[in-house]
Amino acid sequence: MSISKVLVNSFVNITSKAAIAAHKFVGKKNKILADKAAVDIMRSEINKLDIDGKIVIGEGELDEAPMLYIGEKLGSGKGKSIDIAVDPVEGTNFVANNLPGGISVIAFADRNHLFNAPETYMNKIAINKSIPDDAVDLDNSIKKNILNIADARNKDVSNVRVCILDRPRHQKIINELLNLNVKLKLIKDGDVAGAILVTDDKYDVDIFLGIGGGPEGVLAAAALDAFGCKFQGRFLFETENDIKRARDMGIKDLDKKYELNEIIKGETVFCATGITDGDLVKGVSIVKNEFYTETFVTHTNSFKNVIKNRYPKLD
Ligand code: FBP
Repeated sequence: MSISKVLVNSFVNITSKAAIAAHKFVGKKNKILADKAAVDIMRSEINKLDIDGKIVIGEGELDEAPMLYIGEKLGSGKGKSIDIAVDPVEGTNFVANNLPGGISVIAFADRNHLFNAPETYMNKIAINKSIPDDAVDLDNSIKKNILNIADARNKDVSNVRVCILDRPRHQKIINELLNLNVKLKLIKDGDVAGAILVTDDKYDVDIFLGIGGGPEGVLAAAALDAFGCKFQGRFLFETENDIKRARDMGIKDLDKKYELNEIIKGETVFCATGITDGDLVKGVSIVKNEFYTETFVTHTNSFKNVIKNRYPKLD
């Protein structure tokens, strides 16, 4: 049974309501409260749906935020069986500090069609669709990938545009990229949106690369799937506990490089509503007695759009 437009719209409403809930905490320097507000509303709204839902990617374990936990069952249990990946507030620092880029995110697919990613880091790469898949690979050197992109896009290396999280762990790569003289887009947080920037030239990014959250990698892959963009990810396990959890989740080869079609299978929906203004969508705005939201939505090959909604302001 395919995913209905009605179900897609239900989830657009859920990320919109979660964004509105978190918006109350924009600039309040309290990412835990912002996250909790979004988590609580997501849980109560998903529970209203006639679905047999299961959380396969929750959030909060890494930063001890309140979470929708992995394995949690949601919905009436009566309808379609779906796996749900949530990141109620992606970019908690953005929201806490009133900076651009905070979004509320959900992806869902048929049962067992979304990769159940452990809460560890992932080394990722995503490229614009116009670049041939074999031009770029996680196992290539940075230089080879960049030169291949310049070649594929028929431009000088100095015009190759690279998005990467601004982190000390990336200093070596950033230095290498600077030596190559590429055009960098260093992001402070929010690598779900960072990866999605490769989908359209208007965002000025040819390649997204570097290490960020594994769950965020799965969410980004869900959106990239709809655009036919290449994505690869490899988990990084730092502690014995990380390794144990991965093994418990059924991961046998800890060094495996995952291709997009091993992370996302079949029909998938991705919804990201802006909390604060960002590259993909505008944040929540309040006009008179209404909240206005913008949601970036993709539904496998059938639908990619920004949906604008209005909700009454109750207090
Ligand atoms: P939060 O919204 O949970 O704070 O995550 C933000 C984020 O920047 C993600 O987009 C990214 O995958 C991850 O943190 C990177 O982790 P770290 O901050 O440890 O480098």
